[in-house]
Order: sequence, then C-alpha cells, then structure tokens
Amino acid sequence: ADSAAARAIGLAPGAIRPRRLRTTPALRRLVAEHRLDPAQLILPMFVKETLDAPAELQGMPGVVQHTLDSLVTAARQAAAAGVGGIMLFGIPAERDPEGSQGCAPEGILNRAITAVAEAVGDETVVMADLCLDEFTSHGHCGVLADDGSVDNDATLDRYAQMALAQARAGAHVLGLSGMMDGQVAAVRATLDAAGFTDVVVLGYTAKYSSAFYGPFREAVESQLEGDRRTYQQDPANGREAMRELELDLAEGADIVMVKPGLPYLDVLAQVAEASPVPVWAYQISGEYAMVEFAARAGAIDRMPAILESLTCFVRAGADAVLTYWATEVAEHLNAAA
Ligand code: PBG
Repeated sequence: ADSAAARAIGLAPGAIRPRRLRTTPALRRLVAEHRLDPAQLILPMFVKETLDAPAELQGMPGVVQHTLDSLVTAARQAAAAGVGGIMLFGIPAERDPEGSQGCAPEGILNRAITAVAEAVGDETVVMADLCLDEFTSHGHCGVLADDGSVDNDATLDRYAQMALAQARAGAHVLGLSGMMDGQVAAVRATLDAAGFTDVVVLGYTAKYSSAFYGPFREAVESQLEGDRRTYQQDPANGREAMRELELDLAEGADIVMVKPGLPYLDVLAQVAEASPVPVWAYQISGEYAMVEFAARAGAIDRMPAILESLTCFVRAGADAVLTYWATEVAEHLNAAA
C-alpha cells in the first residue's frame, strides 16, 4: 500500500509494511488506538408503573420493561459490572396533555430514580430522561398550543418543573432529550435557584428526527401520531449540529450528546472535534434491533458486531455511549480482561 511513498523516499517497494503491526493478537492489542471500558458504557432502562413482572419487548429482544423491583435488581447488576451510568425512562399508568406524571414526586420515573439511587449508591451514576413524551397523552415531547403545534416556551416551564422533581428524587445527571430551544438554560437556571448546583445537565445537542427510534416507541408505549420534525433535526443537516453545540455550550450544558449513533458518526466526529465538554453518543433502539435481528437470522456474528459498533463510536470521538448492551458488554470485557 505504501510503495509509492516508499519509492518517493528511496526505499525499495515493500519496505514499508503496515501489515507488520497486525501479525499477532498481542501486537494488535498493543497498537490499538482506542479500547472499550465498562466505565464508558451507559445503560438505558425502562420502568413501567402497571407491570407485575418484567415484559420483554418484541422489537428489542433481550430488553424488558421493568417493574420497580426488577429495575433495581438489574441496576445492581449493571453497577456490579462496572457500567458508567444508568439512564432511566418511565412509563406511567396515566397520561395527560401536560405530562403531569413526569413532575409528580410519586410519578413512576421519580420513584424509580430514588429506588435506583439508593440501590447503587456511588457505584454508578444515576441519570433520568427529562422529556415529556412518555407522559403526554398525545406523545409529543412538549405541551401543545391551541393550534396543535408544540409550544416551545410553555414546554420549558414544564421541563424546569420536571428537572426539580428529578433532582429532588436523587438523579445526578438529567438528560434533556426534548429538543426545545433554550431547554438547557431554562433547566440550569431553575436547578441553580433551588440549590441543585451540582446536578449535571446533559444536553441532547444534535438529536435527529429518526426512523430508527421505532422500537423505543414500543418500549415506552408512545402515543405519538405523526412525527417530531418541527423540533428534532433533519437528517439532511450536518452543519446545523454545530449551531446546536454552540447554543448548548453557551447555555451551560455540562455534557453534550449526538443521537442516533452509527448513521451519524460524521456528526459525532465534528462535535467531538469542537466540543470542550464530554461528548456522548446514543446507540438507539433501531440500531440495537438491526444487530439482534440480523444475528438471529444468521446473517452476522452477534458479539463481534456489537463490539465493533461500540469501538467505532469511540473512534469517532464518543467519550461514552448509551447502549442497551451495556451490562452484557461490560461483563464480556471484564471476563476477557
Ligand atoms: C424521546 C426519546 C426518544 C428516544 C429517547 N428519548 C424517542 C424519540 O425522540 O422519539 C429514543 C431512544 C431509542 O430509540 O433508543 N424523548
């Protein structure tokens, strides 16, 4: 491959052989530019208020909606495997247009935060999804104006209240996934005014309107009809992510995110290049499903595909990755070490 370069500096063709560093597993391990560590994996988990037993998702084989009890058990297992964090999503018994259960101290997500935080202590970081879509009867990430459009500024007030409820419940990181303009600033100001200056704000900086969220909609029993194109980004736009990054940084985001993952590695690489704060990526439900179903069909080798996909996130610049395989991969890495 380097024969032209070799000739240019007067070496015989074949004198420069990149394959030399690929000859043994030990050498390949030694020269790897990036490696995976359990601490950079974050496990998203679903807890459903009305369940008596965990329920496996059809679109995501191996992932369940948890009861509060099974959630705590699985969170302990993740922490024991060394995962860096846990991101909680709640499915309430009752929904309304304002998504009130997201703010209610006794709402399922807020109870889950407290239960998991008590169970895992300082072993891992407890995070909560801060968005209304699981809680609204219409399934949108915000409240609606009279004309049916998503009302950005009215939604910010709801997010601020939800942030307070999650911080009071014991969440250490709040994941602002709603894609409202000004959400980071609104939540930061409200947290600070209430004394929660150490609660971390994770901005979903570049979140695209994606067909690959399909299985997640089953997981949270989304009530959405239509789409989120008036607030989530258009997949056609890469540069726009840099504008979102500037805004989130100016508003005080502690960590920024790119989502989805694999189809957006170019965006991830751009954001990672420019961001002074940690950059995370979300390997979303549809990405999980593609690998699981392809492996079940015998088309690809499952664990190598999983490890490759995660390594590619890290190579592209992710400091951590949200992945539904977090516990399994952490256990795999621990066993291999
Ligand atoms: C919405 C939200 C979504 C996901 C996380 N938070 C779905 C959406 O925006 O419609 C998707 C995660 C996944 O697909 O794994 N707040």
